[in-house]
This record gives sequence, structure tokens and C-alpha cells, in this order.
Amino acid sequence: MCGIVGYVGKRNAADLLVKGLEKLEYRGYDSAGIAVINSNGKLEVQKVKGRLFNLEEKLKESPIKGNIGIGHTRWATHGAPSVLNSHPHINRTGTIAVVHNGIIENYIELREWLIEKGYKFITDTDTEVVPHLIDYYYEGDIVDASIKAVKKLQGSYALGIVSLNDPNKIVAVRKDCPLIVGLNKDENFIASDIPAVLNETRDVYFLEDNEFVVLSENGVEILDENKEKIEKEVYHVTWDADAAEKSGYDHFMLKEIHEQPKVTKDTMTSRIILGEDIKLDKINLTKEQIDKFNKVYIVACGTAYHAGIVGKYVIEKLARIPVEVDIASEFRYRNPIIDKNTLMIVVSQSGETADTLAAMRLAKNEGARVIAVTNVVGSTVSREADDVLYTWAGPEIAVASTKAYTTQLVAMYIIALYFAKNKGTLTDEEIEVIKKDMLELPEKEKEVLEHQDVIKKFAKDHFEETDMFYLGRGLDYAVAMEGSLKLKEISYIHSEAYAGGELKHGPIALIEFGTVVIAVATQPDLFEKMVSNIKEVKTRGAKVLAVALKGNENVEKTCDGAMYLPEVNPLLAPILAIIPLQLLSYYISIAKGCDVDKPRNLAKSVTVE
Ligand code: F6R
Repeated sequence: MCGIVGYVGKRNAADLLVKGLEKLEYRGYDSAGIAVINSNGKLEVQKVKGRLFNLEEKLKESPIKGNIGIGHTRWATHGAPSVLNSHPHINRTGTIAVVHNGIIENYIELREWLIEKGYKFITDTDTEVVPHLIDYYYEGDIVDASIKAVKKLQGSYALGIVSLNDPNKIVAVRKDCPLIVGLNKDENFIASDIPAVLNETRDVYFLEDNEFVVLSENGVEILDENKEKIEKEVYHVTWDADAAEKSGYDHFMLKEIHEQPKVTKDTMTSRIILGEDIKLDKINLTKEQIDKFNKVYIVACGTAYHAGIVGKYVIEKLARIPVEVDIASEFRYRNPIIDKNTLMIVVSQSGETADTLAAMRLAKNEGARVIAVTNVVGSTVSREADDVLYTWAGPEIAVASTKAYTTQLVAMYIIALYFAKNKGTLTDEEIEVIKKDMLELPEKEKEVLEHQDVIKKFAKDHFEETDMFYLGRGLDYAVAMEGSLKLKEISYIHSEAYAGGELKHGPIALIEFGTVVIAVATQPDLFEKMVSNIKEVKTRGAKVLAVALKGNENVEKTCDGAMYLPEVNPLLAPILAIIPLQLLSYYISIAKGCDVDKPRNLAKSVTVE
């Protein structure tokens, strides 16, 4: 993970680096630092442990003046969070500074090699080999030295490099970690993600793996490993910088939860229109091609994986194609059976998750066709997949995913309907009914968001719990898993999700007087079975909050509280049912005084394995 930025131009670099890092803190926030070539021609480095505001304070005490520099916000992998281990890292003579996102897998070998050559190491990081390697290869040209050094690296990296020997240039390169270049008049930027430059420019380049970029205030050159020039199209960002601001909400997470009606609508726009065929943007999948798919894998991590589980239910139910859902980190190492009749759907908000990318590359190598469902235009997943279906959630800043999940669900429904139409497993009339129900979702989501009292009260009464259980059957089980993950992530309360039917096979042993159970019961054909599960845990003393559809108010007789959702096509209920669970986690986290948007140990974009 980690976020990197770089600035070269006429303005004060430190100010712009800190502003950029503010927008990247979601990628890691255990330490931060900058390196600037100051107006006296010296390389000045300032690093702090902890949040970015510590760096801002440090810079107020000892400002750095200069027009070129690089910055970093860290999510520790190699070496504990500390001032010493934080980036930028420098070479022995203090002339070269490097920021790095990713993992250098062969750093031990390189470290030993460099130690033999007389280099000394002072940190526990993998990154420290990079400035020393560049130093070793430096023969008068920082670009040449960087290219030679990078050739020695194995692993993943986005690197930003400045050197006193070429004081007007930033060199940057990426492999398996995101990196963009922001273009402006008389100034240029590098960053791990667009929001870091959006206040300054809307014109960006997306770098590909093994592309080097050399920035000065006068221009940007992109080169391959042989220093051949590469031409690239400028991408003009159209979304609003405000989308990455809190807009009056206390936290990004709360704002993003409330954005769900809008983003659900946006993700359906132009794809789901009554009386017209479902449109999958530019994805061209013919009936013949769809008929040939003998297997669909949905592969993802975390919340996106939970969206994939819903995807499995709906694709199998509506289109009758067998679907396997896999956690990307498992899929890539289990030698899955893939051939040219396999379809892989990778789901990734960021489009940069290392395991998801690796799983996708594996499937492509074996001949599978890959559709990416991603939220980030220009992300690696979007560029490497055969086809892309964007979720239009807008920038998601809170580490815990909410609106991106909802839009991933919408994407799953769209794909399932498209397949069902082409395979003829649903009639046109049946498809129209589901489309109509989908189009009503945004209003229903608004309605759910207007009734938060039950959830707020339950959060107030139970924020001090140490364990909670989530139960559901069918689609509700998928929702329970996501609800449980949200709670763990932002409130640090231990929680587990179980399929209702599994309860008796072990987990019920954990239920004792006062144990909190959240029972999701939106599926009519499984409702009575869920009620039985609720009774089973109630009999053993559990405190139960049910999430059910209106019309099922009887459920209250068996539990301690209930949140009712507007009546909805049961197939689409996950989109509504997740909202109270997101809110519950949010209010519990607030009551506990946790850092909602930046929970401990987590980072938004997991670009390392
Ligand atoms: C949970 C969460 C993570 C991500 C996971 C995959 O709230 O955000 O579990 O869902 O790290 O990330 P993407 O979707 O970017 O591949």
C-alpha cells in the first residue's frame, strides 16, 4: 500500500506534497515524510511517525523551501512504523532520495550484495536498497542509474526518485503498483492516485508497468527500459474534486453510506432502461460466446469478494451458469481449472489489489476471458482485463467500503440479466420485471437511510460488546458476511457470520446469555427457517436484532429489535439489507471513539500480497 507523490514546478514543493498526501492517507497512515531539494541546493528530508498532521506540525516548526520534491504516506510492511523506517529513504551521501509503494521481494539478497560493496543500512525496510542501488549505478545520469537499479528489483513498486546531481528532475517508475502523472502549465506531479493532484490539474497520464517517467517543470517524458520514448494519451478527469470531500458529513464513511441511492442509480444509468436490451457498455459478448462458457469464476478480496458471493447466487439463479467465487489470494495458488471456455469476473473497487491482479493474470494466461468490475478508471485491472464494467461509485475514501460494494452488487445483477437474456433462461417479461424493480432501488435505499433510530439505539446499547454474530441464509448469508466484516474493520469487535443452517453444527456452542446476534431475514422462502434460527439463539439467551422486510413485523415477537426494509424483490434485497449493517458498524465505531475512516492496521488499497 502506501501513497507516493512528487512535485516539480515553481511553487513551494512541501505545501503541494503535503496537500497531495492528505488525499492519499487512505492508502496508509502510520508515518509520513517528504524530501525536497531546497533553495540552497541541499536535499532536506523530514519524516514523522503517525499521521500526516504530525508532519504538517514539523514543517510549521522547520519549513522547507524548494520547488521539487517527493512525499510518502506509509502502511508498514517491512519494518515497524518509526521515523527511521518511514520514507523517503536516502543513499549514503544524502544525494538521492526515494519513496516507494510496494514490496521489493529480493531485498535481502540485494542488501547483502550492497553490503559487500561497502554500503551501510540503517533501516529495516526493503526500500532502502533502492537509493543505494541507484547510487551504485550512478555515472552521471540519474535516469540511466534508475533504469539499471530497477532492473535488479523483483517484486512490486511505484518509485519516486530525486537526486542532487540532477536537481531539476523527478524520475518515477511503476510495476504492479499504481502511478499517475499530473500535467500542468510549468509544473508536473506524480501520485499513487488521481485525488492527490485533482486540486491542481485534471490532465493525467496513467503509467503502465516498467514505464519510466522523467518530470521537470517544463515537461514530461515517458520512456521504456531502453530509454525509447513512449507516446501516451492524456486522460482528462471529469469527476468532481468535491466527490473526494466530506461535504458536511462527520466522516467519509457516513457520506459514502448516504451516497448509495445516487451511485446505485449512476451505475444503472444507460445500462438498465425499460423496454431496451441490457447494455454492458463496450463489452461485446455474443450469445455464442456466452453459451460456450462452461464455468464462471468470480475472484476478488474482502468486500468485493462478498459482492462476488451475491453475484454467484444471481448468475446461477437467473442465467443457470455454474459460478465459483474465490478469494483472489487463494485462487492464485490453488491451480484452478481454467480454459478458453472459462469466464473470469474480477471485482475490485481500486482495480489495484495485488492478489486480484495476480489471479486475473493467471486466468488470462490460461486463456480465460476476463471481465473487470472496477470503480477506478484507468486502474491496472481496467487496463489489463479483456472487458470492463465500471461501477460508478465515485471516489471512495473511507477505508471501509460501502458505496463501492452496493455498486458492485448492481454490476452483478446487470451481468446476470445480460447472460439470462442471451441464454434465454428468463423471458423478456421476467427481465423487464427485475429491471423495473432495480430502477426502484434508489428510492428504497433513501427510505432505509431515513430510518436509522433502531440502529442508533442498538449501537448505543451494544457498543461495549466484545463479540457479535451475524446470521443469514441464501443471499442474506452473503449480506451477513459483509455486515460482519464492516463491524470488525471499524469497531474492532470480534464478529463472525454464519449460514443459519450451520448454526447447529458448531457455532451455537458460542451463544450464551447476552450474546448479540444480528439476523438478516429478507428472503421469503427462507424466512421461517431464519425465524427458527432466531428462536434457537434466543432460547440460549442471545440478544437479537433482526433485519427483515416490511410485512414481517411478526419477527419482533422472537427478537429484541427489528429494522424493517421497504418491500423489494428478494433477489435485490442485499442492496437494502446491507445499509442498516453499515450504519450499525458506523455508530458502534463512533460510540467506541474509533477512527472510523482510518481504522487501525488497514489501508484502502492493498497493493502488496
Ligand atoms: C473492506 C474493504 C476491503 C476491500 C478489499 C478489496 O471494507 O474495503 O475488504 O474490499 O481490500 O479491495 P478492492 O475492491 O480495491 O480490490
